[in-house]
Amino acid sequence: MHKSIQWIAVALIGVPFFLAAQTRNVVLPQDKGPATINVSQYPPEQQQGYKLFVNKCSQCHTIARPINTTMTRMEWEQYVKRMMHKPNSGITNAQGKEIFEFLAYDQQTRKDKNPSKFYKALSDEEIQKLQAQQQ
Ligand code: HEC
Repeated sequence: MHKSIQWIAVALIGVPFFLAAQTRNVVLPQDKGPATINVSQYPPEQQQGYKLFVNKCSQCHTIARPINTTMTRMEWEQYVKRMMHKPNSGITNAQGKEIFEFLAYDQQTRKDKNPSKFYKALSDEEIQKLQAQQQ
C-alpha cells in the first residue's frame, strides 16, 4: 500500500515534467527558418537587446522560432511573460522587458513590412498535433 502511494506520487510529479520536456523537443515550422537577424541598422539599444534575446531565448528551442514568428506588440508582451514564467527560464523581469522592447522594434521594422514571410503563433492544440505526428 505504502509503495503504491509512492509510485502514484512519482507519476503525478514526474508526468508533467516529462510532457514539458516533450513539448520542448517538438519542431515547429518557424524553427526551420533563418536563425539570425541583421541588426546592423538597428539603434544601439536594440542591438544590445538582440544579444540578450539570442542568449536567453535559445535555451529551450531554436532562436529561429521567435525570429520567424509574427505577433502584435501586445501579443509579444504576453508571450515574453509566458516564456519568462516557464521553469528555469533564467529570465529576470528587467531582461524580459529589454527583450520585449527588442521584439517590438523588430516586429515593426522587419516583420510588419513583410508579414507573409513569417509565421503566426500556433495554438497549443496545433503544437500538440505536430508533437503527436513527430513521435
Ligand atoms: C524555459 C524554456 C523556454 C525559454 C527560456 C523560452 N521558451 Fe519559447 N517556448 C518554449 C516552449 C516549451 C514552447 C512551446 C509552446 C509552449 O509550451 O508554450 C515555446 C514556444 C515559443 C514560440 C512559438 C509560439 C507558437 O505558438 O508558435 C515562440 C515565438 C517563443 N517560444 C518565443 C520565445 C522567446 C521570445 C523567448 C525569450 C524571451 C523564449 N521563447 C524563451 C520554451 C521556452
